[in-house]
Amino acid sequence: MTSTPTTPRDPLMPSTIGAEFSDLWTALASQYAVERELGRGGMGVVFLARDVRLDRFVAIKVLPPHLAADTELRELFLREARTAGRLSHPNIVAVFRADELAGHPFFAMPFIEGENLGERVSARGPLAAADAVRWLREVAWALAYAHARGVVHRDVKPENIMIERGSDRAIVTDFGIARVEFGPTLAQDALIVGTASYMSPEQINGEPLDGRSDLYSLGVVGFLLLSGRLPFGGANVSVLLHAHISRPAPPLASVAPTVPAPIAGVIDRCLAKERDGRYPTGESLADALEKALRISEPLPTRTGEFDARTLSSHEAMLVLQRAAALQQAALQDVSSRLTGKTALGPYTVRDLESAATDVGIPVRLVTRALAEVMPANVR
Ligand SMILES: Nc1ncnc2c1ncn2[C@@H]1O[C@H](COP(=O)(O)OP(=O)(O)O)[C@@H](O)[C@H]1O
Ligand SMILES: [Mg+2]
Repeated sequence: MTSTPTTPRDPLMPSTIGAEFSDLWTALASQYAVERELGRGGMGVVFLARDVRLDRFVAIKVLPPHLAADTELRELFLREARTAGRLSHPNIVAVFRADELAGHPFFAMPFIEGENLGERVSARGPLAAADAVRWLREVAWALAYAHARGVVHRDVKPENIMIERGSDRAIVTDFGIARVEFGPTLAQDALIVGTASYMSPEQINGEPLDGRSDLYSLGVVGFLLLSGRLPFGGANVSVLLHAHISRPAPPLASVAPTVPAPIAGVIDRCLAKERDGRYPTGESLADALEKALRISEPLPTRTGEFDARTLSSHEAMLVLQRAAALQQAALQDVSSRLTGKTALGPYTVRDLESAATDVGIPVRLVTRALAEVMPANVR
């Protein structure tokens, strides 16, 4: 996953890599030489291999034998790999080949050297807001592109978002790949939890999905990236799934107070239970993230190059009017978050103070306003 490809193994050593797939490696030998296992999840085992003709590394994902035994699942796996293969986007992993050989359905994709976002957060904790926003936007673009072509990812989670070393790009993997649905037959609890933590309420309820389901999952990813925590925990999978359906997500600001309020507000909106409460499209989410980051950047405290200048009274008036208009616009933005359809109240006084600070209203004015508007509540 994180490490650089190793040198090819000694051809005299018998291969023990993915021994359960040895028939597949034999069938593929003229094109790919398997090097090592990169990781495994609920729906596949991923191997690093070398494309011997093109002399480049690829990643090969194989459906595990116990799932490949199911004809329907096998067909679904390949069909969806091919669907993903039709997507061509800088933030979506390409598919080189999707096939079945020696009874093993597999697909080959570019090997992405780097780490996935799950590994990143467990190794280094929450991300800086600017990094999180940049990668979330890239994923939102990728999703928007796929949704416009009728493809819903259905398994958006940090392990399916790789950060490519070098380009520092977020690349989404496992697009539209079939997932094993939950059921008593699937005993690998840990694997289910990995995925269940990101599932939208409508997905858990088995309803038809549209792109907004992925935007919910991306919201959970954002929550993790920015706070290092998931919005819902649970002693077991059913508690967790129940929470996604019925418990309101904690506002991100309540677990990560240092995250700028506008950015936290965007994540909170992604986590709306009702899909109508979320952003309608990946593009609109990407735009909202960009805008939130922009208004979160600390306002310049000094006016720098203008310090030495004097202004005419007309210019002074224009500048002050513009500053007031900017404050008004910022206030609109915050108040629509506090009172709009996706509002997350009740609010603490601290929430109000932080919203006010965002739009440049000093805390002392909030204190005074509180005393005037609701005197009974102020000690
Ligand atoms: N194209 C790729 N290049 C490099 N590593 C990959 C690639 N695709 C998947 N991986 C790694 O393999 C791991 C296992 O993948 P997968 O079977 O999809 O399970 P999961 O996504 O649940 O972790 C991923 O977590 C990821 O780190
Ligand atoms: Mg995956």
